[in-house]
Amino acid sequence: MPIKDTEGRIITVGVTGASGAVYAQTILRLLDADRRVQHVFLVTSDAGLRLVSSELGIVAADGKKLPALLTGTAAKKIEYLPNKDIGASIASGSAPVDAMVVIPCSAGCLAAIAAGTASDLLTRAADVCLKERRPLVLCLRETPLNRIHLENMLRVHDAGATVMPVMPAYYYEPKTIADTVEQFCHRVLAQIGLPQEKQYRWKGSRARGEG
Ligand SMILES: Cc1cc2nc3c(=O)[nH]c(=O)nc-3n(C[C@H](O)[C@H](O)[C@H](O)COP(=O)(O)O)c2cc1C
Repeated sequence: MPIKDTEGRIITVGVTGASGAVYAQTILRLLDADRRVQHVFLVTSDAGLRLVSSELGIVAADGKKLPALLTGTAAKKIEYLPNKDIGASIASGSAPVDAMVVIPCSAGCLAAIAAGTASDLLTRAADVCLKERRPLVLCLRETPLNRIHLENMLRVHDAGATVMPVMPAYYYEPKTIADTVEQFCHRVLAQIGLPQEKQYRWKGSRARGEG
């Protein structure tokens, strides 16, 4: 566990087995490049690793190499933590983590967080964020939604989490899928107090000459 700078932010990123591994890859790249960020803990479920492999073609038998493989950099400030290690620092509220993002977040992971089962490191770290009243953003990726999903979303919302389904916007006229992914990740980072310079900000219809 790093000793926390007064200014540096420490963020946990959870990656689960919902579709959208590219969102995890993009947010890790942004955090890796962000000077305000001192350290990132990365924890993935088994299904998350499977989706990283099937959607991005990245296979990291040794999880330690995953940050570098995902970001394409040395990724020195991203530390991979095995999901089975429920004794890792982020399993305790005493660890100085500022915020956690689960991206993409599966319906199963949402259910586990809503139920407070905390049976692996990812869901325990999320549970810790809720009990410590720290920002927790859950980027759920599922559609359509059944009653169980909807109830679980309300439950985690009431417990203090921000439910931010992976729903890209189109009002800024993105040209590529990468644009939509990146802009969505900018919005997520703004939610945890890391607004990005390149985030598109709506200036009103008139500024676009639309009356
Ligand atoms: C190719 C593939 C795509 C999937 N996409 C989703 C999805 O978008 N949303 C979701 O909630 N589950 C999805 N699943 C199912 C989850 O991976 C599964 O429920 C898993 O148990 C979730 O485990 P985790 O929450 O520990 O990662 C997908 C599974 C596969 C194999």
